[in-house]
Amino acid sequence: MVVSAPTITATQTSDHSSYWITTFGCQMNKADSERMAGILEAMGYQQASAELDADLVLYNTCTIRDNAEQKVYSYLGRQAQRKRSNPNLTLVVAGCVAQQEGEALLRRVPELDLVMGPQHANRLETLLLQVQSGQQVVATEDHHILEDITTARRDSSICGWVNVIYGCNERCTYCVVPSVRGKEQSRWPEAIRLEMEGLAAQGFKEITLLGQNIDAYGRDLPGITPEGRRQHTLTDLLHHVHNVEGIERIRFATSHPRYFTERLIDACADLPKLCEHFHIPFQSGDNDVLRAMARGYTVERYQRIIDRIRQRMPDASLSADVIVAFPGETDAQFRRTLQLVESIGFDQVNTAAYSPRPNTPAASWDDQLPEGVKVARLQELNALVEASARQRNARYAGRVVEALAEGLNPKDPTQLMGRTRTNRLTFFNARGSDGSSHRPGDLVKVRIDAVRSFSLTGTPLPAAGEH
Ligand code: SAH
Ligand code: SF4
Ligand code: F3S
Repeated sequence: MVVSAPTITATQTSDHSSYWITTFGCQMNKADSERMAGILEAMGYQQASAELDADLVLYNTCTIRDNAEQKVYSYLGRQAQRKRSNPNLTLVVAGCVAQQEGEALLRRVPELDLVMGPQHANRLETLLLQVQSGQQVVATEDHHILEDITTARRDSSICGWVNVIYGCNERCTYCVVPSVRGKEQSRWPEAIRLEMEGLAAQGFKEITLLGQNIDAYGRDLPGITPEGRRQHTLTDLLHHVHNVEGIERIRFATSHPRYFTERLIDACADLPKLCEHFHIPFQSGDNDVLRAMARGYTVERYQRIIDRIRQRMPDASLSADVIVAFPGETDAQFRRTLQLVESIGFDQVNTAAYSPRPNTPAASWDDQLPEGVKVARLQELNALVEASARQRNARYAGRVVEALAEGLNPKDPTQLMGRTRTNRLTFFNARGSDGSSHRPGDLVKVRIDAVRSFSLTGTPLPAAGEH
């Protein structure tokens, strides 16, 4: 077992040490998990075949809402019990609950070996070496995120995440992210491009650039252009990386309406690899609620962004996040959210009932809404969202789309599973009617035969066919 071996070095562990990572939460956590898995494999760990067999179990946690946080404690309870009969087990809690709770987690679950915040993900090896010397370790202090020196162990070999900015400097009154992810730290464009070139060389075809508030990219980097603009913006970054050879598609998330510029929309329309899918959370359809959330934009501004996107890219797909039952939200204000969802016609909307979070202003306001109101509003909104998704999906019937094959359909291995540029999940036969066969990584023209709320099924067109 790695932690009890006194002679362990960076590249040596006992032959059979195995790890298991369970990831909760957003894409940022998924990307961090892939990097931590890369570090563990460089240390000699192998992926365990089951959680209960692993010598090291790492939970990369999320605390965006209370139910996300509670889930972690039930998982931890099981592992803590296992550790009591197997003291060689190494138990790690990483991510946002780790950052939020810090040492309190050790008091709650004394079996833990390591509690590490998201800014420490790239330091996993150093921290494990401290654990190995017999300490319980808590790493939650502010930390300058080190450039990656480890190769991430990525779940996909076709689509990869690339972090461009860590942290968030906004202060949305409901949100725990700034306190758990720390201040914004942008990576240099050269480092981002280099990582993308490396991925292209390994055969990756699609890159999603990641940041909690990706439109803030570059505002912490120095440099002003002769025209007096910031030198490093997301738009400039897209221009800088879009011609990496071998990468066919580029996406980015998550966008903030306050910073979403016309220049950015124009770049997405003009740069061919930029996909026509925009995830722009609006949170509420009422201006007073938006002000109470400290979001820094109005419904009118949001609508202008959408209009501009549709003017430049009429077929673009749009998704968003919404919170219902924010403290003090009246029924009339909630109806404005419904109206906005209805009038825009989203392809997908992630919905949530407001959940009070530690160290956030809105949690201490006295106009919290009862559970019953939360549930009722969420149900009403979800019904509308599903109808909207179904209606938007219907436009694909009979169309020819370009799907990037990402892997086999787990339910039918004769089919490939991929996504359209607009991020629709699409299933199609691996073998075309002309006998041609397609593999993961191929861009395939597919005629859509069947449309469901959340996926499409189609037939690949003959390779040289005129559509
Ligand atoms: N950075 C992104 C989203 C971050 S968190 C943005 O600015 O929009 C992902 C989503 O979780 C948010 O968009 C929001 O809809 C939801 N969320 C965040 N805090 C929440 C809370 N306290 N209660 C309910 N939902 C919340
Ligand atoms: Fe949270 Fe607001 Fe930052 Fe998004 S922009 S992560 S909602 S504080
Ligand atoms: Fe959750 Fe942390 Fe992401 S709280 S949503 S995992 S930034």
